[in-house]
Amino acid sequence: MAIHDEKIIILDFGSQTTQLIARRIREQKVYCEIHPYNLKLDAIRALAPMGLILSGGPSSVYDPEAPISDPEILNLGIPVLGICYGAQLMTLQAGGRVERACKREFGKADLTVFATDALFAGLEPGRAEYQVWMSHGDRIETLAPGFAIAATSEHSPNAAIRHEHKNLHGVQFHPEVAHTLIGTDVLRNFIFGICGCQPAWTMESFVQTTVAHIRATVGQEQVICALSGGVDSSVTAALVHRAIGDQLTCIYVDNGLMRTGETESILSYFSQKTGLKVIHVDAVKFFLDRLQGVEDPEKKRKIIGYGFIEIFEKEAHKLGAEVRFLAQGTLYPDVIESVSFKGPSAVIKSHHNVGGLPEVMKLKLLEPLRELFKDEVRKVGLELGIPEEAIFRQPFPGPGLAIRILGALTAERLHILRQADVIVLEEMKRTGYYRKVWQSFAVLLPIQTVGVMGDERTYENVVAIRSVDSVDAMTADWSKLPYDLLGRISTRIINEVRGVNRVVYDISSKPPSTIEWE
Ligand code: XMP
Repeated sequence: MAIHDEKIIILDFGSQTTQLIARRIREQKVYCEIHPYNLKLDAIRALAPMGLILSGGPSSVYDPEAPISDPEILNLGIPVLGICYGAQLMTLQAGGRVERACKREFGKADLTVFATDALFAGLEPGRAEYQVWMSHGDRIETLAPGFAIAATSEHSPNAAIRHEHKNLHGVQFHPEVAHTLIGTDVLRNFIFGICGCQPAWTMESFVQTTVAHIRATVGQEQVICALSGGVDSSVTAALVHRAIGDQLTCIYVDNGLMRTGETESILSYFSQKTGLKVIHVDAVKFFLDRLQGVEDPEKKRKIIGYGFIEIFEKEAHKLGAEVRFLAQGTLYPDVIESVSFKGPSAVIKSHHNVGGLPEVMKLKLLEPLRELFKDEVRKVGLELGIPEEAIFRQPFPGPGLAIRILGALTAERLHILRQADVIVLEEMKRTGYYRKVWQSFAVLLPIQTVGVMGDERTYENVVAIRSVDSVDAMTADWSKLPYDLLGRISTRIINEVRGVNRVVYDISSKPPSTIEWE
């Protein structure tokens, strides 16, 4: 979808920090896309990038399986910046030599830059104190013909290189990581000074371009969208609504497994404040009936997932055959074709709640956020006027509270968990921790323990508190919440929620535990 005029293309050779390069460039208001390393020359030409970045990667250029891009990339006349492996590959392909260094260089290094280099414009030449971050085994040993040294460090004499006449640059260090204190200068010099980009990629411009694009794609057709109340579906709905107004209908399926007040706050914002057409399907009984007596977590997930599709499909059919598109809140990390030595492969979000819908319903997909990272989605949401409370809502799983009630679900157990959960959220928000952690919630355990209240012995439920810090939910650590906050949550739950006499705090990280208990 080539809807952004000026862009930088990153060719991914498998580095852990490839996404970070993209984010750093976007922070400078320049649009940037990640593609697999073996993107064809014609495809690159068609994308017409202002510049190319060859990412780092875990391989040695001499590995038999090493990812090798088309060497003609260096002759396209497009400015190129090679980072680490990318710089080594550039050297090799241009006729230089790369060697395995006797010692891996990993960590901080001091860089001395040379006066004439555009990549280091604005930095003081000859000063040896520019801290950069190195992480490489191989290093550039002999420069390729036409190349010169642009900067040097103690262990990497060719720490940065540039071609004398062509617009080719390479750095051994990683400008995208925070430890490289001049990283932003280097990336800015590349995208603005060398590639000539303008800082024009803002969320405002994104909204304008995307709205125009949605209009052109959809024409007079009708679009449906599953509104869940999460950030991604809310921003998708708001953006599509801005583009095509009444041609969009959202379907909100209330499965009875939401947190207290959530359905009401979502519906009141969207249908009352924005005028968006929202069909509210009350499926509480439908789901509770189907979940009755079901203890196995995977069975619960399937019942909820398939049940959702069944209801959504039925509602969509009622809208008639004019519905041709399904709008969905897919984000960039879900679609980046990551490089792998088995060949580039699309990463599909494993927990996608509406997975399967487009095929079943023969709908075309509309994914207006598929180029954005989560923080950018939040900015777009704010730009569209969605309340902060909805924008900064913690992630919430599709199967909802069903996977936080261990064992079989009953209306009574749901009631207990909801009350405990409200207390957790209230206290987390009151102390400002709600936004600091990734997720925080209560879990109702399937056991009872002995307690004493007044003069009486009790035998009641246990609630576990789970709060984790994470950047992407792939790994997570338990939050080091203050004891007085935990104490207050515990006291309040035991005093205010009937049927609970014990609260415990989950101190396991992921892996080996997961964030949810089921
Ligand atoms: P786990 O428990 O796998 O959770 O460490 C990782 C993230 O995914 C969420 N999660 C789900 N989301 N459907 C969803 O939409 C699911 O079945 C599901 N299971 C877990 C979880 O809340 C966390 O953010």
